[in-house]
Amino acid sequence: MIVLGIESTAHTFGVGVVEDRPPYILADKRVNYVPSRGGIHPREAALYFMDNAVKVLREALSEAKLSVKDVDGIAVALGPGLGPCLRVGATIARALATYFRKPLVPVNHAVAHIEIGKLLTGFKDPLIVYLSGGNTMILAFSDGRYRVFGETLDIALGNFMDTFVREVGIAPPYVVNGVHKLDMCADEGKNFINLPYVVKGQDVSFSGLLTAALKLFRSGVYDLRDICYSVREVAYTSIVEVSERGLAHTKKKELLIVGGVAASKVLRTKFEVLSMLRGVRLGVVEPKYAVDNGVMIAWTGLLALKHGVSVEPERAYVRQRWRPDSVDIPWMS
Ligand code: FE2
Repeated sequence: MIVLGIESTAHTFGVGVVEDRPPYILADKRVNYVPSRGGIHPREAALYFMDNAVKVLREALSEAKLSVKDVDGIAVALGPGLGPCLRVGATIARALATYFRKPLVPVNHAVAHIEIGKLLTGFKDPLIVYLSGGNTMILAFSDGRYRVFGETLDIALGNFMDTFVREVGIAPPYVVNGVHKLDMCADEGKNFINLPYVVKGQDVSFSGLLTAALKLFRSGVYDLRDICYSVREVAYTSIVEVSERGLAHTKKKELLIVGGVAASKVLRTKFEVLSMLRGVRLGVVEPKYAVDNGVMIAWTGLLALKHGVSVEPERAYVRQRWRPDSVDIPWMS
């Protein structure tokens, strides 16, 4: 079985083609929208996607040496994400499915991060820590779905990091050579300054930390490098704390880190220590597939299609706040 997948939830427009046998990935093409200033502007991103979509689709098909006629299904990320961006991918997927009479497979973007992570690490049933610009969640499979065992109560870790470095004037760009500006700045800090550490039950919160850290910065009293160092310690440690409790509660033996923020070396070291202490295997998705891509949508679409999941094109609505714990996962049951 061969499935073509389309990703367009936020800043990446990607098309992937996968097959249900090694080497699995037949094509992977993508473009990234980079905001000229500030954060993502959804409408600008959507226009950028429309300008590039046909080119990306063509390149992916030619890399896979296939035409749309040859694939068994069209998968598309219908959420969660930014409305204008999601609608570009959804419109193209609906058109392809209708014109070529192929099943259309709705894919939840968060579930796709998990499934590509499992494929690449060989993990079967991990506790998942999903950290990206727009999402911060601890998940584990239980009773037919990926259940949420902790999440952010306000902003996501990636969004928090981006906003902080932007407000203190060291970004954009947010990431240079795969290293986030917060990590870069924090590596130079030495002194820890007390900041609000917020873990409520199994959930984390970063908006209070953001306000407090910016207040410190604007006071002019502290060295920015020390603030970055302290901010990073507090933010990362809170994630590791809820991950540890997730492991203790679910008794999973694998710990899988997915999403764009997984690239941070310091965070990774913290998870290495945690997994050693708890005697679990650690898997971190390689940066290329930790960030958004079409391959993960195609792969999850393939798993779903094999279990009869598809949707009529006229009913393939985008869902900006589509939670992963509302999606049935028949291939795990
Ligand atoms: Fe993502």
